Amino acid sequence: MTTTPPATRPANPRFSSGPCAKPPTWSPQALADAPLGRSHRAPVGKERLARAIDLTRDILGVPDDYRIGIVPASDTGAFEMAMWTMLGARPAQMVAWESFGAGWVADVVKQLKIEATVHEAPYGEIVDMGGLTYDHDVCFTWNGTTSGVRMPHGDMIPADRAGLTLCDATSAAFAQDLPWDKLDVTTFSWQKVMGGEAAHGMLILSPRAVERLESYTPTWPLPKIFRLTKGGKLIEGIFRGETINTPSMLCVEDYIFALEWGQSIGGLPALMARADANAAAIHAFCDTRPWIANLARDPATRSNTSVCLTVDGADPKAIAKRLEAEGVAYDIASYRDAPPGLRIWCGATVETADIEALLPWLDWAHAQEKVG
Ligand SMILES: Cc1ncc(COP(=O)(O)O)c(C=O)c1O
Repeated sequence: MTTTPPATRPANPRFSSGPCAKPPTWSPQALADAPLGRSHRAPVGKERLARAIDLTRDILGVPDDYRIGIVPASDTGAFEMAMWTMLGARPAQMVAWESFGAGWVADVVKQLKIEATVHEAPYGEIVDMGGLTYDHDVCFTWNGTTSGVRMPHGDMIPADRAGLTLCDATSAAFAQDLPWDKLDVTTFSWQKVMGGEAAHGMLILSPRAVERLESYTPTWPLPKIFRLTKGGKLIEGIFRGETINTPSMLCVEDYIFALEWGQSIGGLPALMARADANAAAIHAFCDTRPWIANLARDPATRSNTSVCLTVDGADPKAIAKRLEAEGVAYDIASYRDAPPGLRIWCGATVETADIEALLPWLDWAHAQEKVG
């Protein structure tokens, strides 16, 4: 039994899957020039909101004819807004392989009550995206944050389709390649891969999504914070930074800082490479241990952000608690609705040296908590 604690500790023990670690160069000083106490509709506010949108487009390689908006209520707000404004024009196919996807299924089936089929896979597995009908609308999550199962690519989605694809990409954006021609609605929040602050959602719309908004009116009423059109036309201002309601300019400044950091290290390829290196370090560790394994069954679907692990011979909750008490790893127990296990965030703001320093502690904590 390994009783001696490892000599090295992660410099930053923040491995939560959201809010995630801040960028390595972050300090409160990063926010010193935020236009606080000013209207978000003053030129200075609008300039910062537009800068956040422009940098997002630039780093993610979003096509020029796609709209990018900052909307209320984080990723949930953005995804709900898309479902409630666009679904119902065609039958929907609701796809889920973990808890957040299942949440969107419940919304459509129990709240919107539109014609829908449900396609689900258990934790660790993925739905066959090639078996869907893309004449219908398809709602899915690119990276299942609570199972660590991600789309390996978008090849199964036809570029030429009649329905819309609505993709919750909140734990994928900035770490995984998103094929824009396959995505009509893409949503994410700031507090995942870029380590921003919560409460603001990003809504990215393809021209076909805009066409849907302008040609279809749902039968149900829409609250003001969901409304994207006026008189049958898209409210273009939303996609230039004229937000529906008041954003936090402190959070906007913080997001801009994170995006500028991302750009400074080499943009999307560098951000993806950092997540890949982090996840690879964990995969290599699991390959040489009989007691710990990736929850994702097919290696091609293993997440490089929310890495979910099964544990044999010890209670993973006790392991997570012990490591938290040691100040070595915060928030690494699996999500409350997921199978018991560990979940270690590997997004771009996490340093590979910190993942490497954490791994011997997993051995140690497992040995301490071993049952039988
Ligand atoms: C896949 C997925 N969807 C939705 C959410 C909810 O996000 P938010 O709290 O930003 O609304 C999360 C949060 O972790 C998530 O991982």
